[in-house]
Amino acid sequence: MWPGTRLTELLGSRLPIVQAPMAGAQGADLTIAVCEAGGLGSLPCAMLRHEQVRSEVARIREQTEAPFSLNFFCHAGAEPDPDSEERWRRRLAPYFVELGVEASSTDAAPSRSGFDEAACALVEDLRPPVVSFHFGLPEAGLLARVRATGARVLSSATSVEEGLWLEERGVDAVIAQGAEAGGHQATFLRADVTDVSEQVGTFALVPLIASAVRVPVVAAGGIGEGRAIAAAFALGASGVQVGSAYLFTEEATIAPAHRAALEAAAAAGSARTALTNVFSGRPARSMVNRIVEEVGPISADAPAFPSAGRALAPLRSAPEGAAQFASLWAGQAAPLGRSLPASDLTRLLWDEAVAVAGQFAG
Ligand SMILES: Cc1cc2nc3c(=O)[nH]c(=O)nc-3n(C[C@H](O)[C@H](O)[C@H](O)COP(=O)(O)O)c2cc1C
Repeated sequence: MWPGTRLTELLGSRLPIVQAPMAGAQGADLTIAVCEAGGLGSLPCAMLRHEQVRSEVARIREQTEAPFSLNFFCHAGAEPDPDSEERWRRRLAPYFVELGVEASSTDAAPSRSGFDEAACALVEDLRPPVVSFHFGLPEAGLLARVRATGARVLSSATSVEEGLWLEERGVDAVIAQGAEAGGHQATFLRADVTDVSEQVGTFALVPLIASAVRVPVVAAGGIGEGRAIAAAFALGASGVQVGSAYLFTEEATIAPAHRAALEAAAAAGSARTALTNVFSGRPARSMVNRIVEEVGPISADAPAFPSAGRALAPLRSAPEGAAQFASLWAGQAAPLGRSLPASDLTRLLWDEAVAVAGQFAG
């Protein structure tokens, strides 16, 4: 039956809908709600300490028997670069003067950790049914240990070359992440990841990758309602990964300024978003606010991932600073978002997709 059962058989979920892991925007409540509604719930671990991952996984296992995914970043850590940090501080200095905040009073921004020996030992201990990675894959020895736990392994590709690279290294499914996607682009093979002009949109990327690889393809980027899900299946995907649409749910733990900006975009039916490196050092899609407009969207002064965000912390924390200086992650289709509990949204997404597919057939 259309769209086939390749992905649901692989992952063990009832529906071929993966809730995108969204570091800094959710904890286990979203994971649990999606799992209970039949989708594959995900827990992003990149910004959690290992004790937090343990307690969140314990909560997931208490509240659902459905399979779930743990997600990790696996970028190579950049060497500290004091010159570049200094250039960035100088670039941001006028904002500190304007807002009357001290650059030196910086509390560290939540940092994003890569996948190391300790993270691998955590996975071996917790044995999640599914593990997904962003920014490629961990080095071969660690990846082999993850696979030996029996976990299904997924990772995102932003090009055919990345999809083939992931397949060669044994992933069970490739997430084809189009340029529309909210949050960080997974790009890992290109030397200059800050050149976003070549990023491929979901509508072209999904059939390209589906034609190139044998493993199931999960479409991601700009998918937040039934029409887009049905389109993704028509393009050759076996499932979808939905991110921004879940930011509108009560289970998302985003800041009030972020939620207000998303709700304003939904009310207007439109939003300006851009791929920008000003918040972390790597291109990620955010709504356009003051810092994106004035310093970005791509700034040569931003230090390498993930350290660019640290210098912005005092600006974000200043009164009125959040809307102007904090990341407002959102994909291009975010204005179609609906404020619903995550379980209702998951069921609605599926019902809508089935209804659209019925129209095709009829
Ligand atoms: C707020 C936010 C945070 C994200 N964090 C992660 C993450 O931690 N790990 C990851 O693999 N992808 C992350 N992504 C990217 C998603 O996996 C996915 O590619 C994207 O949300 C799909 O596009 P959409 O937002 O248009 O649905 C994030 C996306 C958003 C919107």
